Amino acid sequence: MKDAVRKLLKEKHAILLAHNYQPAEIQDAADLCGDSLELSIRASRTDAEIIVFCGVHFMAETASILSPEKLVLLPRMDAGCPMADTITPESLSAKLAELGPMPVVTYVNSPASVKAMSAVCCTSANVLQVVNSLDAHEILMTPDRNLAMYAAQHTDKTIHIWEGCCPIHDRLTSEDITRARQTYPDALVMAHPECRKHVVDMADAVLSTSGMIRYARDSKCSAFIVATENGLLHTLRQMCPDKTFYPAAAHMICQDMKKISLEDVIHRLETLDGQVNVPESVRIPALAAVQRMVAIR
Ligand code: 13P
Ligand code: SF4
Repeated sequence: MKDAVRKLLKEKHAILLAHNYQPAEIQDAADLCGDSLELSIRASRTDAEIIVFCGVHFMAETASILSPEKLVLLPRMDAGCPMADTITPESLSAKLAELGPMPVVTYVNSPASVKAMSAVCCTSANVLQVVNSLDAHEILMTPDRNLAMYAAQHTDKTIHIWEGCCPIHDRLTSEDITRARQTYPDALVMAHPECRKHVVDMADAVLSTSGMIRYARDSKCSAFIVATENGLLHTLRQMCPDKTFYPAAAHMICQDMKKISLEDVIHRLETLDGQVNVPESVRIPALAAVQRMVAIR
């Protein structure tokens, strides 16, 4: 199956991207694995004509924002993100009418239409630099309340919080971490900032998925408890074969991230169905919000 995918990709001048949470068979067939923004940026720099994005809908939108000249295909149109779905342009306008005007910082895990209304985007890796780079003292952060609370803890600014969350990360408890630490006492805990505050506060390091890969690779420690979606365990084991990785809890599985199969990828490449397009009226302001983030160092 993997050979059939690779052959079709070549024939169609296509590139296969896999988010770090994708099933192992997808990651192993992909040209690039990584976090959503890094994948879209790297794909935009290639001369591929087609991007097949194995991830969820907002990720394919981000690829289309950055590569309007490429055809972007999502292998399963029903692969969505419950956190991104908590916000729409209408609900954001209503919130701003209630709060008064202020810059909106939007996590990349969001619809393109909401990015388009935002002053700047952020990722889980750069959220603190982005927030601190703004002149305004009051900021609205969307759509992840846990990431917003993490930012609020580390800045003097007033952060207004959008009440969305990732149901997978939000479900992890301090009891899960205590249990994992008792079982693997020599392991360091790496937690994603989409986790709740009490989990983040217990972690040795708070990192995005790509941050976790770098941290584990560069650490002197050889064992890690991984507090994020369990698909990352495959990536970590591939990147650091001499180290050991344990899930913080067996329930850390995003069903949306697990929908895509190699058969779906083949079907998309054969039919070119499943195109994700962002209209120019949304793409241009959304791109500006992404570019403002990328310019912050
Ligand atoms: P990152 O890979 O950007 O850390 O994102 C985590 C996530 O939940 C993606 O759906
Ligand atoms: Fe959305 Fe969470 Fe799934 Fe990522 S892991 S796609 S944030 S629901």
